[in-house]
Amino acid sequence: MKALRDNFGVQGECYASPSNRYGVEPWTFCSAYPETDGWFGSSGSFFNFWPIEGSFECNPPFSVDAVDSMFAHIKEIFSKSSGSLSFCVIMPGNHWKKFYRDTGREDLAELIRHEEILEMGEHLYLTGNWINSAEVEEKDTWTANMDTALIWIQNASGNAKWPVDPEKVTNVTKAFRGIHGDSDTTYTNI
Ligand SMILES: C[S@@+](CC[C@H](N)C(=O)[O-])C[C@H]1O[C@@H](n2cnc3c(N)ncnc32)[C@H](O)[C@@H]1O
Repeated sequence: MKALRDNFGVQGECYASPSNRYGVEPWTFCSAYPETDGWFGSSGSFFNFWPIEGSFECNPPFSVDAVDSMFAHIKEIFSKSSGSLSFCVIMPGNHWKKFYRDTGREDLAELIRHEEILEMGEHLYLTGNWINSAEVEEKDTWTANMDTALIWIQNASGNAKWPVDPEKVTNVTKAFRGIHGDSDTTYTNI
């Protein structure tokens, strides 16, 4: 997450919980249970989140319905604002290719600036379940057993403000591979 923040100005995550949000302030996060999570700073469900500008990360639950709804909501957000907007979506690579990219089903096509596929076995996620297991440390990682797609979706002013240049993408993919530099491992997978 730090790599996304440092390289793409990411200021919040659209799918999170108080225990798997990135731990910096200021930071925006959406979560599934606003009644409880609101006390910990949640902005509520992503589907009630209407930013007019900003750069965000979206790592939704990996189900077809959840991903469909996410893309539909991102599209609505872009339709309601001409402010600088950028979303970096993280999702399973096979799901992205089969149901969206290769079928043309994704109707945000004109806003998609870049796609990067991270190969299975070659990138890491934070395990994330340190909160409910004494055997897991907060920094423990899990090697992905599937490809991951990173998709940058931006309007023109978002692209001008947070350009998806190769060096910045490499900084993010290195963090995913556990090559930290001054960046930490990027994602949890709760
Ligand atoms: C794959 S994890 C994301 C992990 C980490 N926060 C990230 O962004 O990389 C998906 C998270 O989305 C949360 N979630 C589910 N439905 C949501 C909704 N409608 N709005 C916001 N978050 C939601 C889940 O509870 C879970 O914590």
